[in-house]
Amino acid sequence: MSKLPNIGTTIFSVMSKMAADHHAINLAQGFPNFAIDAKLNDALRLSNESMTHQYAPMAGSPRLLSAISEMNQKSYGTYFSPDKNILVTAGAAQALFLAIQTFVDEGDEVILLDPSYDSYAPSITLARGKAVHVPLNEQYQVDWEAVKLALSTKTRMIIINNPHNPAGTLWSTNDFERLEEICQINPRLLVLSDEVYEYISFEKPFISIKGRTNLHHRMIAVSSFGKTFHITGWKVGYLVASDHLISEMKKVHQFLVFCVNSVAQEALASYIPHADYDEISRMYKRKRDLFAKAMEGSRFELLPCEGSFFQLASYAKISDESDLDFTKRLVEEHGVAAIPTSVFNENKEDRKIIRFCFAKDDETLIESAKRLCKV
Ligand SMILES: Cc1ncc(COP(=O)(O)O)c(C=O)c1O
Repeated sequence: MSKLPNIGTTIFSVMSKMAADHHAINLAQGFPNFAIDAKLNDALRLSNESMTHQYAPMAGSPRLLSAISEMNQKSYGTYFSPDKNILVTAGAAQALFLAIQTFVDEGDEVILLDPSYDSYAPSITLARGKAVHVPLNEQYQVDWEAVKLALSTKTRMIIINNPHNPAGTLWSTNDFERLEEICQINPRLLVLSDEVYEYISFEKPFISIKGRTNLHHRMIAVSSFGKTFHITGWKVGYLVASDHLISEMKKVHQFLVFCVNSVAQEALASYIPHADYDEISRMYKRKRDLFAKAMEGSRFELLPCEGSFFQLASYAKISDESDLDFTKRLVEEHGVAAIPTSVFNENKEDRKIIRFCFAKDDETLIESAKRLCKV
């Protein structure tokens, strides 16, 4: 009997395969198609030539753990101990899975804010917990009254995603204050904060849960070097949490992967002190604006994008097809792959909105916009 009877292949694999089959431009899956920083390339070459090819320490390379600690101190003004508060993981995906498997027990409820990233709910099911889906409002902001109503004595965790995929929205100080109020009601509540796009924000500043000290004892903050340094194939990320939570997660982590790719860890440890984080947002802002300008002549309506490398677009003026049918036709007839957003909603609500990834080189963005302008 299947433990995940209702789960098929993820939409990302489905759309990427369709894009390949139809020789279409793939703006569906969230991965960059441009070169990595030359300094990171050099660090990788040096790491490869050093004696870094055997198992790394279970929680992460000591050099990388220290680099992560300094990086967080610089970005959020908070000290996290390399030994006690940080765990290197095989991408954010493993960190999320690990946190859920460690803390969610049979019958526990976990609040998800839909549209929500597609790995959360199945991971909860595998832990025999129950996902409680609360839709974001029309502007893709948290509906705090609805969250309050969803709370019960069984609520163990809330998963938040900021900057948000697919909506590209950011959390405000008010959102954190409302979350803190809710935490007061439920002392067992853990906050799993998926911040994989933390270094990609535009006009408004990104506020991390890692800067909210009164949430530290119950937070698990998840980061992805794949997203930050456009190396999604390396699958290296990390999580930050307080000592009592990390020690429980290490027990599971040691049997899940034991440790993470040693060559990649040493390369990142050397590179991180020299990385220019501000340039990451500047580069993606240029790409967001380039794509938006090139789309001006189209019938799509672009929604505001405050962060992440995703652009939502309404096709309501073009068609009343379902978003799934529309994205399939877009690949087949126009040679551009996108992601239908209804797949991120448990209730399958279809707002006639699709997601484009603009982490692509300029030529790809211009060519895809040219095709989309003909739709
Ligand atoms: C919101 C969100 N969380 C987690 C992940 C997984 O990140 P990683 O590739 O580091 O495992 C992704 C990747 O698309 C994502 O968009």
